[in-house]
Amino acid sequence: MSYPYQIQNREAYEEAYQKSIEHPEKFWGEIAEHFKWEKKWDKVLDWNFSEPKVEWFKGGKLNITENCLDRWAETYPDRNAILWEPNDPAEKIRRFTYKELLDEVCLFSHVLNRNGVKKGDRVCIYMPMVPELAIAVLACARVGAIHSVVFGGFSAQSIADRINDASCNIVITSDGAYRGNKTIPLKSIIDEALLSCDSVQKTIVLTRTGEAVSMLSGRDVWWDDEMKSVRDEGLSHYKPEVMDAEDMLFILYTSGSTGKPKGVVHTCAGYMVWTNYTFVNVFQYKPDQIHFCTADIGWITGHSYILYGPLSAGATSLMFEGIPTWPDAGRFWEIVEKHKVNILYTAPTAIRSLMGFGTEPIIGKDLSSIQVLGSVGEPINAEAWHWYDEHIGKKQAPIVDTWWQTETGGIMISNLAGVTDAKPVFATKPLPGIQPVLVDENGKVIEGNNVSGNLCIKFPWPGMLRTTFGDHERCRLTYFSTYQNLYFTGDGCMRDNDGDYRITGRVDDVLNVSGHRIGTAEVENAINMHTGVVESAVVGYPHDIKGQGIYAFVILSSVHNDEAHMKKDIMQTVSKLIGPIAKPDKIQIVSGLPKTRSGKIMRRILRKVAEGELSNMGDTTTLLDPTVVESIIMGRIP
Ligand code: PRX
Repeated sequence: MSYPYQIQNREAYEEAYQKSIEHPEKFWGEIAEHFKWEKKWDKVLDWNFSEPKVEWFKGGKLNITENCLDRWAETYPDRNAILWEPNDPAEKIRRFTYKELLDEVCLFSHVLNRNGVKKGDRVCIYMPMVPELAIAVLACARVGAIHSVVFGGFSAQSIADRINDASCNIVITSDGAYRGNKTIPLKSIIDEALLSCDSVQKTIVLTRTGEAVSMLSGRDVWWDDEMKSVRDEGLSHYKPEVMDAEDMLFILYTSGSTGKPKGVVHTCAGYMVWTNYTFVNVFQYKPDQIHFCTADIGWITGHSYILYGPLSAGATSLMFEGIPTWPDAGRFWEIVEKHKVNILYTAPTAIRSLMGFGTEPIIGKDLSSIQVLGSVGEPINAEAWHWYDEHIGKKQAPIVDTWWQTETGGIMISNLAGVTDAKPVFATKPLPGIQPVLVDENGKVIEGNNVSGNLCIKFPWPGMLRTTFGDHERCRLTYFSTYQNLYFTGDGCMRDNDGDYRITGRVDDVLNVSGHRIGTAEVENAINMHTGVVESAVVGYPHDIKGQGIYAFVILSSVHNDEAHMKKDIMQTVSKLIGPIAKPDKIQIVSGLPKTRSGKIMRRILRKVAEGELSNMGDTTTLLDPTVVESIIMGRIP
């Protein structure tokens, strides 16, 4: 097995890049030839950014699971597709060859079908990181249903919002989930969510923790019972639904500047080609290597680089149920040693948190299998980069710093492991097909090197989002209206003298907390739901481990003697409404917020306070009441 489109050296990268810009349709058409199609496309690309309309491999017919499963099950039936490492290291690991994974996906496809799931239906998946999650996702794709995976750290309210937005008619969940030494009662969270979701007719419940759960007759069925009955009926192969290239594959909700998360939509063919191409090239995957992406499948990184990218390339993907610090901070290194991991792809926040434990957890662990390291989710600081390089890669493994987003489907700017040069804290060069441009506030393109601006992309790539579910206009407004004929990323970026790109962070009201994307407006809405709160403003501040922390300024409706208690209640409210991941790190009770005469909160000032940059507050003369700033500074939480 080889990948004819795998870039082998720097010159080949430049050649591929050039070709992808000059002849994009020819370039991507040739790559798409290496996949399994029911019918080839009529036209490689049709697009305009003004609607926006983006169609790749138009007229093509396929099923992504045939590309991820059947073709490898035929040619390499015994190759491992998924290796699974449980939360508790004492529990047995599980392995699924391509043949076994295909069989399980087929069986569960029958289960979905029996439970009334049809092509185009939306299925919400709220599950722990167990192989059945992968099976559920792939079975949806096989029957042509659109999966919407919700991360296990979201609250009942957040799940309900997502289920209702997509009108899901079925939920797949488990009794509970293990996470370090904790268990999370997933089914009872779903039960609470479903109180406000009329569209859901069925839930399928996997047994994981064995805890007691309520099972509503007529609505709730057990995963194991359903699988057993399709087996007993002698059902096995499931013929994949023939999908149009541009049929929806999945929805994944992500935060933006408004209070309501958006359902980012990816479609079948373009997403497949993009995740495969980027996986094979960025990580320089070689057959039989073990690829370990530590993300959760609840996020885009898990979708693209645990499931679709690796599986469409016939790779072996390691899936880990637990957390990096349990039972101790050596867990990742133990896993690397045990499974002889070759490619490790993780987030700066994990690296920084493990750095905090020093090198002791690494001592005695054999990390010699590691050949490539990857970073994703937020800018990696120099200290973490060098620690990763020295202590994990032993200065032998190239680090790929991969910049991309939920909306981009796959990696956009990154060095290619061992093929193009790495540069600490730089994502470096765009992948073939990606045309980054930097623009100033007025939308003027900034040419040349050694410049900074807002990062936009000026030409479609196969993996880009197509719409936001149920609201195409929102997609246009969010991504395609700020700058004409450009996709706006929301990130700030600099281009150095070598033409390498360095992402400097979001320029909108989106926070990146431990690699989790959270909108400040969402957190504010949740805080404001507390009965005692009049108004709030949320900003980010630099946090040693999380990258960004959440700082909330809150006005209460009356004076409270026990502010500490009040703050706990506010935390609890946020946790209940969004999930524990959105809890503020600091809450400062204030008597007023810095507002302009038109009533707009001047966040610039609040950011400075949160960051502790108090010497120069900038121009405050346009404020309605400039004295408010003084009192906020006085009450700052260090
Ligand atoms: O700000 C960028 C940051 O994460 C944002 C995208 O978040 P999300 O959609 O949740 O996807 C995360 C995983 C792809 C981006 O707008 N980001 C992601 N990767 C990097 C990064 N910032 C700097 N360097 C990166 N490598």
